[in-house]
Amino acid sequence: MKRSYIVGLVTIATLTISWIERPKIFDYYNQLTKIREPLTEDLRDRSQLKASFVGSAKCMECHEEQYHSWKASRHSKMIQDVDKNSSVVVADFSKLPDDADFNLSEVVYTIGGKFKQRYMIPAKINGKDDFRLGNYQWNVETSKWQSFKPYKYWYHDAYPHDNKKFPTSNTCDGCHFTGYMSREKRVELSIGCESCHGAGSEHLKDRDDHIYRATDYDPIRSSEICLQCHMRNRDNRLKNGDRTINSLYMEAKDYPSGYEAGDALINYKLVAPFKLGVETKEFWANGSAKKNRTQGNEYVHDAMYAHGITCINCHDPHKLTNRADKSEGNSGCMKCHSFGSPIGPHQQSLEAHTHHKGDSKGSLCVECHMPKTGRHTKKSPLTVRSHRFKFTSPLETKIYNMPKETNACFSCHKDKSLDELQDSINRWGMQNWENMDTISSFLLENRE
Ligand code: HEC
Ligand code: HEC
Ligand code: HEC
Ligand code: HEC
Ligand code: HEC
Ligand code: HEC
Ligand code: HEC
Ligand code: HEC
Repeated sequence: MKRSYIVGLVTIATLTISWIERPKIFDYYNQLTKIREPLTEDLRDRSQLKASFVGSAKCMECHEEQYHSWKASRHSKMIQDVDKNSSVVVADFSKLPDDADFNLSEVVYTIGGKFKQRYMIPAKINGKDDFRLGNYQWNVETSKWQSFKPYKYWYHDAYPHDNKKFPTSNTCDGCHFTGYMSREKRVELSIGCESCHGAGSEHLKDRDDHIYRATDYDPIRSSEICLQCHMRNRDNRLKNGDRTINSLYMEAKDYPSGYEAGDALINYKLVAPFKLGVETKEFWANGSAKKNRTQGNEYVHDAMYAHGITCINCHDPHKLTNRADKSEGNSGCMKCHSFGSPIGPHQQSLEAHTHHKGDSKGSLCVECHMPKTGRHTKKSPLTVRSHRFKFTSPLETKIYNMPKETNACFSCHKDKSLDELQDSINRWGMQNWENMDTISSFLLENRE
């Protein structure tokens, strides 16, 4: 009796200790081992397939918490009506250059306003009531007007080189209005509930009719609701190579047209091309972002994505925290990571991993694993953080011919050369053999 009592106590103690000691990533066991759904399957309930869009205001009465979080986030403020509230304009229109092809009284909607703001003006284009974009944009980061020629992108052969004839419907509105992506209707300004949950009319009629919730499915499918917008694309009709860009004159689309949350994104999307070692307008040669709105393009190459970590694990989908102005700091990463854990860092303490003092900026995860590699416009400072979490060494920065400023170590140590910084890492014993493998195969493939 007494003996089994002791054995029981010892067992409980052992279990408790191993529970406390177990890597934190165990909390995500269910998510990471969920059965994968086919990529081409529509995951919506049958009832939702016949639903129409109702607008976010209709959801408020029953889902107040989500509604208020969303209302305070920038998703609800992407497109704003100037007539309703003139304070949404962040630019100084008294300094608008003389050759501007628009003035404030013509502007109906503002686009954005955190990093830059652009202006939508009603226009009849191609026989359709559409919108055009003013030929100047306000750069919030530099507080200056700068010229804006939207047609200078991958679709430059599909549109006239004149802002007055360049429609926003095909090139912007799918990602900035709710409903336009799948139904070509501007149901609601900005990114409403139904951009991520799909059409809501049937759920309104009967709560037992489920509305799509991305996290009910496997992690790869979960991220699709974010990837529909946070990614650089090409027109899906160019996928098979039997259409040319010229054949899409006035109709080239820069978003996955036809997609609705829950459906299979892969059927609607052609991702902007990237090849390791080749720099493009959108990516550096190692795949890091040169521009904004590349989170998805980078993240799908990361080991965390492949192993089932989603955008939603790091970003609350309604509040949109974690972000620069509302940072969770290292604790955002340490929800899953811990020192000496199987998923890394493999060292036993923060200082042993970073080789910087614990309270130094050089010990912040994002500073080394999400360096600022991209710009919002050509004239903007480097502010866009990479979502390719793998550490880019000074040696890689050099080999891939990337600007020094995009390297994490160099961004804080501008008095040192890339070689000196690489030497420090080598001295610390962080050889990073995984990366060395990629580098040597890259060098072999590209030798003269
Ligand atoms: C950017 C995409 C996105 C937008 C916009 C969005 N949601 Fe969600 N919503 C999600 C995701 C993803 C989940 C699942 C969260 C989880 O499992 O942690 C979710 C979950 C929910 C849930 C279930 C409760 C929960 O937290 O799991 C409700 C209710 C909900 N959302 C309502 C709304 C309403 C109402 C709006 C608009 C005011 C809205 N959502 C806007 C992505 C979004
Ligand atoms: C009249 C109240 C009511 C309204 C209006 C309403 N919902 Fe719901 N919603 C509910 C209830 C109740 C549940 C829980 C259902 C359950 O657990 O089966 C729910 C569940 C959800 C869920 C979780 C997934 C699911 O289907 O169970 C999401 C996401 C959601 N609602 C989003 C929305 C969105 C978006 C809108 C606006 C288009 C909306 N709801 C409007 C009452 C409402
Ligand atoms: C329909 C398009 C769309 C969808 C879907 C979407 N986003 Fe966004 N997201 C945007 C746009 C546009 C902005 C820029 C808003 C602005 O600056 O006004 C943005 C901004 C953000 C921001 C920055 C917020 C800030 O305050 O700066 C985060 C973080 C974010 N989105 C995460 C997500 C995540 C996570 C998902 C998926 C759950 C998602 N988004 C789905 C279009 C979308
Ligand atoms: C595939 C979806 C998509 C398309 C197409 C798209 N955007 Fe965006 N846009 C986004 C997302 C997502 C963000 C926020 C994320 C980021 O900037 O990294 C954004 C950010 C912006 C911002 C910065 C917002 C801020 O607050 O600083 C502006 C301005 C903008 N877009 C204008 C445009 C214009 C104009 C077009 C058309 C010529 C366009 N976008 C096409 C998805 C898109
Ligand atoms: C492992 C965690 C993690 C994952 C996964 C992740 N992000 Fe982020 N993301 C962050 C952090 C941390 C920041 C803010 C960094 C900082 O402090 O500036 C950020 C910043 C952003 C921003 C810019 C916000 C701003 O401050 O302007 C956007 C937009 C964004 N993420 C979207 C996404 C999308 C979309 C996905 C999925 C494709 C995604 N993120 C996946 C951690 C993550
Ligand atoms: C929700 C859990 C979760 C969060 C939050 C998280 N990670 Fe991870 N991370 C993982 C898992 C799981 C792996 C293991 C992938 C593998 O098998 O190598 C990983 C791997 C990594 C790797 C090595 C492989 C790679 O992707 O390059 C780095 C670096 C990394 N994480 C950095 C971060 C940083 C920085 C943050 C915070 C911004 C963060 N992680 C937040 C779960 C997470
Ligand atoms: C966010 C800024 C930041 C980043 C990123 C950063 N450091 Fe540091 N570094 C510092 C600061 C601040 C110190 C001062 C002492 C300390 O914090 O330990 C420092 C100190 C050092 C030192 C010792 C003192 C000296 O200047 O000789 C070396 C060596 C060093 N860093 C190398 C690196 C390398 C290599 C990387 C990339 C892996 C790196 N740092 C990334 C900010 C940074
Ligand atoms: C001073 C720069 C620096 C900071 C800050 C930093 N790391 Fe790292 N990290 C590295 C380098 C360099 C590597 C590559 C080491 C290697 O592969 O041998 C790495 C590798 C990793 C890996 C891959 C597994 C491993 O141990 O090699 C993970 C996971 C990781 N870091 C997570 C984090 C987390 C979480 C934080 C914040 C608590 C963080 N790192 C802060 C430089 C840094």
